Amino acid sequence: MKVPQPSALQYSALQLAWLQELGIEKPWLPSEQVAAKKSNPPLAVTAVTHAPTRVPLRPSGVTPSRPAVRAASASQSAAELVMDTNALAASAHDLTTLAKQIAGCTACGLCRGRQQAVPGEGIMQPSIMVIGEAPEALDDREGRPFVDRPGLMLDNMLTAIQSSRAHNVYVSNMVKCRPPGNRNPKPIELQACKPFLMRQIELVRPFSILAVGRAAQSLLETQEPLDQLRQVTHSLTVVGQKIPLIVTYHPALLLNHPGEKAAVWQDLQLLKTVSGMS
Ligand code: URA
Repeated sequence: MKVPQPSALQYSALQLAWLQELGIEKPWLPSEQVAAKKSNPPLAVTAVTHAPTRVPLRPSGVTPSRPAVRAASASQSAAELVMDTNALAASAHDLTTLAKQIAGCTACGLCRGRQQAVPGEGIMQPSIMVIGEAPEALDDREGRPFVDRPGLMLDNMLTAIQSSRAHNVYVSNMVKCRPPGNRNPKPIELQACKPFLMRQIELVRPFSILAVGRAAQSLLETQEPLDQLRQVTHSLTVVGQKIPLIVTYHPALLLNHPGEKAAVWQDLQLLKTVSGMS
């Protein structure tokens, strides 16, 4: 039996044409082939490239005798955390293994307060990968992202562009464990968890990314306010693959500020175009 290979052929002609407009020749080729290709510069696209930061903490040739991830101590540096979760994430060859590694991760203090880790859910090779900030209380109890009121709002937003987690969307977060009291994740927590997200993106292979709320600033590594990041096609490069990234307000904001729905609607229209869905 011939096993279908994941390839750029899974994208429609419209999607491929749009990516070419953005300077992305083909989505999700193996990284060495991408590096060998000479692509045109993107049009009106801001780009961020994520490469794993591996910081040698010991002389080369010395074999580590400790596990890849261990509990953080007060003196542990951010570089050390990133290196540890990098090693762990890189060794996961599928989402199930990655989810197990996330569930057992103790790289930052968030593991102490979690009931369950929340790795993410949805469709592989989706049109859209939604990236939020962090799980909240009910998400933590169920082990699923965006299940409470912000989640319902997110699902409504997706429905507005004929999309859903069951059909063409994957949903995840910057950090996979709930911060206590739903506070914002700290920079060191974001940094420790980032290799899991980058590996997840690599395995999920999304056509486009929708970054909501502060997740946008984290992913694009900027302090620019969201209203300046909206309505621009950014791109995120993961293992040599440029993925179009659209920014919008967090669905939780719409619960208290329904007047912003018009702006979110505009962003969703741009996302729909970028994803080759319109
Ligand atoms: N639930 C999530 O999973 N992520 C958010 O950003 C908010 C609620």
